[in-house]
Amino acid sequence: MTAVGIDAIEIWTGNLKLDLPGTFAPEKGEDPEKYTKGLGLNASSFPDSYEDIVTMGANAAHRLMERKGLEPDDIGRIDVATESAFDNSKPVSTYVAGCLEQVYGDDFHHANKGERKFACIAGTQSLDDAFNWIQAGRNRGRSALVIATDTALYARGDAGEATQGAGAVAMLISEDPDLVELSTEQGYGSADETDFLKPNQQFPSVDGKRSVQVYLARMREALEDFESVAGETHPDQFAYIPFHTPFPGMVRKAGMLVYRHMIRDTSIEDELAEEIGRQPRAEAFDDDEAFHDALREYMDALKDTETYQEWYEATIDPTLTLSREVGNWYTGSVHVARVSALKHGLENDLDLAGSKLLVGSYGSGAQAEGHAETIQDGWKDEIEALNIDEQLDARYDMSWDDYEEIHDVHNHDMDVDVEEFTAPESEFVFDGWGRMGERKYRYVE
Ligand code: CAA
Repeated sequence: MTAVGIDAIEIWTGNLKLDLPGTFAPEKGEDPEKYTKGLGLNASSFPDSYEDIVTMGANAAHRLMERKGLEPDDIGRIDVATESAFDNSKPVSTYVAGCLEQVYGDDFHHANKGERKFACIAGTQSLDDAFNWIQAGRNRGRSALVIATDTALYARGDAGEATQGAGAVAMLISEDPDLVELSTEQGYGSADETDFLKPNQQFPSVDGKRSVQVYLARMREALEDFESVAGETHPDQFAYIPFHTPFPGMVRKAGMLVYRHMIRDTSIEDELAEEIGRQPRAEAFDDDEAFHDALREYMDALKDTETYQEWYEATIDPTLTLSREVGNWYTGSVHVARVSALKHGLENDLDLAGSKLLVGSYGSGAQAEGHAETIQDGWKDEIEALNIDEQLDARYDMSWDDYEEIHDVHNHDMDVDVEEFTAPESEFVFDGWGRMGERKYRYVE
């Protein structure tokens, strides 16, 4: 089977920043540590008035194409994953292609374009589509461009307001990839759930506490399904486990869940037994409540063991560094987590080629998916080429008044015009509406 995977990746953050402990917490009358320690977030990225899902997606894709020396003819497929689309018919990928055609002499008329929807998991599903398209031999030597782009805004005052974010991830899926090879080892946990949805409305209806439980339940199912294909998993098997990261505190829970699952009936569980006992088994309990109480007690104890903490520091925590500074990017979030992990590898001079990642994606509604990837020889050059740190540093730090204004600007029900906070440079910008209600874009040198 041909090696197919992510050849290159680029991240584009919204140009504005909201400081959560410094600006958001005081206005909400909350302890700043609720954000930094509880949710695990320092800041959120926001789009300036001239930015949206198209500009961010096109900017990420443009940077990726330039860096890899690609022309439109090299791309046979453009899929955009988003839960922030503004049109129920015309896909965002057509707008992105239109933007890119402004800067390339050529066009994308022979590329298949589409849009994927299943909440935050749609980016990963688009990767799968691209993988299948290439493996089926339908790509004619060309690559696929997968773009995950969102403005993850919540209604003002919603509990999710602290977890907002905006940005795009562009990924090039090719044969003989430089970054990671995708595998056919994959498992799903999927059920009809009502945890987070947008029934033809811009801001989500969310049952926050329930959404956390649904995420964990589906993720456990996905891991079990993954094991039915790939065999039993072990904590030492994966260099990193990037999860969908709505906020790092969520991943703290997911990390504990997979670790407990992976150590069951292993020498790690045996070694820990002296310190904290063995994991409770459902069959040993007469009722569910007693079992779950025992499980909670075991997990509390497990969390404090050196064995768990060392594993978490090495395998999970490095996936969260970027998320702490940008918030939730919905479809892009798990792909930001992958980059964050590999960036950690680069900064710590780790020898990762040949190592495995277990990628845990999640979309509300709800579906989780776990799949394995193998890090490729070219990973260091790919990660070194990113400029995400510079982008983060260059963001304009909003005051509370700025934040209120920019939230209104991006609220589809409001008609607000404000001066931009930042000056666009070498990027696509929103340029007003056309006669049929379409959005227009132009490239600013
Ligand atoms: N110091 C330290 N920690 C503190 C603290 C303080 N002063 N104050 C609170 N905390 C901790 C809490 O103990 C809690 O941690 P645990 O869950 O580990 O106990 C954490 O901070 C959050 O506090 P609350 O639960 O009180 O926060 P909240 O009720 O205001 O909101 C939320 C939490 C419901 C998840 C909310 O952020 C939300 O609705 N978010 C949107 C939905 C979401 O992201 N769900 C995640 C799963 S669904 C998904 O993943 C899809 C998606 O992208 C949306």
